[in-house]
Amino acid sequence: MASEASIVSGSRRLLVRWADGGQSEYPAVWLRDNCHCSKCYTAGSIHVRTLLMEHLDVDCTLTKAELSTDAQSISVSWSDGCSCSFPVDWLRQRAFEPGPQRQRAALHRPGTVTWGAEMAQSLPRLPYDLVMSEDAAMLEALLNLERYGLVLLEGAPKRPGAVRAFCEKVAFMRTSHFGDEFTVRVKVDPNSIAYTGNNIEIHTDSCYYDYMPGIQLLHFIVQYEGKGGETQLADGAKVCEDLRREDPQAFHTLATVPVDFKNVTKSDNGQAHFKLLKAPVITTDSEGALQCLRFTTSQRDSYFSVPLDQVEPWYKAKKKLLNMLYDEKYIIKRKMNEGDMIVFDNVRLVHGREPLYESDKVGERHLEGGYIDWDEARSRRRVLQEKLAGNPSGYGF
Ligand code: OGA
Ligand code: ZN
Repeated sequence: MASEASIVSGSRRLLVRWADGGQSEYPAVWLRDNCHCSKCYTAGSIHVRTLLMEHLDVDCTLTKAELSTDAQSISVSWSDGCSCSFPVDWLRQRAFEPGPQRQRAALHRPGTVTWGAEMAQSLPRLPYDLVMSEDAAMLEALLNLERYGLVLLEGAPKRPGAVRAFCEKVAFMRTSHFGDEFTVRVKVDPNSIAYTGNNIEIHTDSCYYDYMPGIQLLHFIVQYEGKGGETQLADGAKVCEDLRREDPQAFHTLATVPVDFKNVTKSDNGQAHFKLLKAPVITTDSEGALQCLRFTTSQRDSYFSVPLDQVEPWYKAKKKLLNMLYDEKYIIKRKMNEGDMIVFDNVRLVHGREPLYESDKVGERHLEGGYIDWDEARSRRRVLQEKLAGNPSGYGF
């Protein structure tokens, strides 16, 4: 509820006093930009601004500001002759003070919680069927995925198709030159390099993509029965935080030295691909937190296009980060059950697999994997949050 609306700052701002105390100011130009009269805005299903920037006078001023008698809306007019009525609640939600801005920030990103090996005891987990059938369970799964970087879905059908079904419930699969789904099938046959049971060093997938797959899914359809085959997961955000504190120079090296990533391969249909990308191992956001971890040994090029004196320090720094990620303080090792599907942040967590030690053991390990982009998962989470809160207001004007 507002108690008063007035024009201040040489007619360049609207001042609103709130009935419960406090006040907020709104620039005339911002209000004008958000005018939702039928000339400036299209309601209906698209909800877009139709006022072109070309026609927006960034020096416009307010000529009228009037609180309605029920105190639910404020009518304003501008120097260019346009006018509009803004709901008071709408203005309050968009106030430029930290409180309302924090609320909006939480809708963008709910915040992350970094973790070490203790997470093994409290892995966020939900039944696959529940997540597929209940909005609230899907929302919980997606929130866990954003906060912790992973969620374990249990009891998925032990046949191909569960990864696609989940992705399509969220939005759609992120395709790559592997196709939509990929199959990891380890036949224990030492003659076939493609199907070896060697150690899979911890890594993030597809580092050679400028826009890496954001979320990875691995569905354990048939688990290896012999000794070994544990899945390894570690939180790169936590380890990078600690590296930055313990060895700022190593962190700086990994965050600045561009690495040549490479992948030369063929799709199943024979189409050739030649992926090259130069990017640092660690990319940070504006607050210095990990934004993207490009962590791979196999998909680094032999070309390393940096000045000579950066080479040896880079190897030392990379080895340090590798050792930290493998440290038992940080890494989770878990032999997944058949029917488990792990869904994890591929630009934050590293994943790997212990060797399959009993190469003579009969049996086939069969995983199906896939990717979803972060934009799609976050979008689904917001849609579900709005829906379950009975509040579709975020969509429209
Ligand atoms: C991979 C991979 C995991 C596994 O092939 O990139 O991470 O458990 N596989 O086989
Ligand atoms: Zn992988």
